[in-house]
Amino acid sequence: MDSKVFALIGDPVEGTLSPMMMNAAFRSLGLNHAYVAVRVPGKLLADAVVGLRKMDIAGLNVTIPHKVSVITLLDGLDESAALVGAVNTIKNTRGKLIGFNTDGEGALRNLESRSVKVKGKRILLLGSGGAARAIAFSVAEAGADLTIANRTAARATELALTIEDKLGIKAKPMPLNRAKIKEAVKGSDILVNTTSVGMRPKENRTLVTSDMMHGDLIVFDIVYKPLRTRLLREAERAGAKTVEGLGMLVQQAALALEIWTGKKAPVKVMEAAARNELRRRAK
Ligand code: ATR
Repeated sequence: MDSKVFALIGDPVEGTLSPMMMNAAFRSLGLNHAYVAVRVPGKLLADAVVGLRKMDIAGLNVTIPHKVSVITLLDGLDESAALVGAVNTIKNTRGKLIGFNTDGEGALRNLESRSVKVKGKRILLLGSGGAARAIAFSVAEAGADLTIANRTAARATELALTIEDKLGIKAKPMPLNRAKIKEAVKGSDILVNTTSVGMRPKENRTLVTSDMMHGDLIVFDIVYKPLRTRLLREAERAGAKTVEGLGMLVQQAALALEIWTGKKAPVKVMEAAARNELRRRAK
């Protein structure tokens, strides 16, 4: 059978769970493929892409710091990447490299897998970085009523304007301060944290506490180190439903695998591989 090589390029790549998820998925699907993580510093990206083309690498995942800069080195973009202006997945089809972005759809699939529908829901999104952009476009397209709050308020405004410009959908920008967030959470159905607040090693931090939440709220934190972030623990205390970030990591990887292979991804196998690796590292 065809043996193919896939890679993740980024800098750093040490903390990644992708090789474990992807190789477990290939094994489970009976595919003779291999996935490796390769550290590529920013200034070597263009050379690396030439090399990957020459080696006929079948597909790539792209992470920080290359998600935007890789675009000019590709032969085309799928709509998912063109909208967001960032690429996390590349498919090599007979030498043509096409960029995709599976983060937004991954977030939607993660919410769906927890029976959360976004259509018609009031979503308060915290953050305006790369992950926030992908999620914002996806939930706006899926029919959510979106508010974007960011510490640097100008970035929230810029993201809202880009969404309106590209999709013709209005999103509301706001600054990220406790009093304003408290008010906004009251009028929200779903709270999504895309900021790095609460990520290890500063895992005791949160932008929203239980006293600001209500029992009908759904709280989704894309941070997955730790798996149960302070924000999710605060949500539990308030009686709100919680959605872990590991699910999004798994779903965005599953979508990449589906783009490459055309086969349905074994999501449960991939999630188990990611959880095993996290457990192994915690020892
Ligand atoms: P990513 O691509 O992973 O989303 P990023 O582009 O660096 O990462 O974005 C990080 C997000 O977390 C930003 O929205 C950032 O806010 P700023 O735009 O104001 O920088 C947000 N963020 C990081 N640390 C924060 C903190 N201590 N309080 C509030 N927001 C924070």
